[in-house]
Amino acid sequence: MAERPFHWEFKPEPVRRELLRIEGGRRLDGSVTISGAKNAALKLMAAATLTGERCRFTNVPEIEDVHVLTEVLRDIGVTVDHPAPNVYEIASGDAEWLFVPLEAAAKMRASFILLGPLLTRFGRVIISNPGGDRIGRRPVNLHVDAMRALGAEIEYRNGYYFAKAPGRLRGGPINFPQITVMGTENAMLAACLADGHTVIEPAAQEPEVDDLIAFLQKMGAQVERTAPNRIEIEGRRRLRGADHSVVPDRIETGTFIIAAAVTRGRVTLKAAPCDHLGAFLSVMGDMGVSISCGNDTVEVDATQAELHCHDIVTQPYPGLATDLQPPTCVLLTQAEGLSHVHESVFEDRLEWLGELRRMGASVEIVDQHHATIEGPAQLHGADVEIGDLRAGASLILAALAADGVTTIRGAHHVHRGYEKIDAKFLELGARIERLAEGT
Ligand code: EPU
Repeated sequence: MAERPFHWEFKPEPVRRELLRIEGGRRLDGSVTISGAKNAALKLMAAATLTGERCRFTNVPEIEDVHVLTEVLRDIGVTVDHPAPNVYEIASGDAEWLFVPLEAAAKMRASFILLGPLLTRFGRVIISNPGGDRIGRRPVNLHVDAMRALGAEIEYRNGYYFAKAPGRLRGGPINFPQITVMGTENAMLAACLADGHTVIEPAAQEPEVDDLIAFLQKMGAQVERTAPNRIEIEGRRRLRGADHSVVPDRIETGTFIIAAAVTRGRVTLKAAPCDHLGAFLSVMGDMGVSISCGNDTVEVDATQAELHCHDIVTQPYPGLATDLQPPTCVLLTQAEGLSHVHESVFEDRLEWLGELRRMGASVEIVDQHHATIEGPAQLHGADVEIGDLRAGASLILAALAADGVTTIRGAHHVHRGYEKIDAKFLELGARIERLAEGT
């Protein structure tokens, strides 16, 4: 590998700090189309590096995280074409420089998903430790242990993992001490080109993992979920290019369901994955939100809703998604009675409730994993700041339900994971304006 300095040419666009100004108190009404899932698209794009042949993805959300990954891939010599909105074509004939720099990891933790595919295909990679973020410590030890279980040699120096596969990786058992979504995906991607049979247990069951399995199968990989929490892979020497449409985003769907509910509106969501929202829809039903699922549409009618309090616990799929905990908390502020919230997946994901309190919510953060919310509370406009994606989307929901004008700083975080979120809310009748910070 050529010698190059660590901080070389990866120069993602500087972050353009943005704010959203929202005038609340309007019922949302109308229909909106759900985009492809962020947490599937990123892994599918990484999977495309397992072959030299061209892969084509449709229904890719046009979000900041996809744009960052595009830059990272191009920097390592992968061709990424973007022939039309929501369509990406990836050809990784060769990779010039198997290095994922700190700047990429700092902008997007999910860049660590490149560890497995680059290591198994090219035999080596140097990749930055993504470190923690606003929702917790977020270590990557389980990814690294999984690669070692497949025979990789990995050293950690100066914030970087130096990973090598002497010859081909070797299939084998991977037993995770706890469920990890990206850990499962990284292990699966690496095992697809390893020599022999791999069994991953317990494997994450998220629908985005199954979308990745479906794509890998199209590429010719022998990978299968053989039990709800077990994935088995028989490694192949080569994979081929394939086409795939990204599964719709269940978290965006849940976010819009709550937007309808907190504004007592009536909204139809098109291209929405009802089947992937079981635990969440059951909470909504218990709280008094009327939802009906069609083939690929979801209709929410909250015009007559009487909202009841509800205790919630986040869990790996098929449990209630941690990514839907923040939006659900906004709805709990509007429900009659005392609700208990138990965030069991991440340790700092309740911190943002402090901002919700500034808008008039009656919230008590008991500890890192527990909070209580008493409702109903009349939310009011305020100046708030967001630090992460899902909390950001949730403050938008709170602002839509509030009296008066809310100014949300740090709104660029939301564009990391939601395609045209302001335009979609405008279509539903919200008063929302996107401005550069400082205006
Ligand atoms: N964990 C470890 N060591 C590891 C990996 C994970 O201790 O090596 C711990 C985590 O700290 C956490 C738990 O295991 O406490 C579960 O984390 P997991 O690995 O499942 O999370 P992830 O794969 O890093 C993905 C999504 C998250 C989503 C979680 C849980 C992507 C890119 N991210 O993260 O999405 O919250 O699964 O469902 O797929 C988001 O979209 O906003 C987001 C944070």
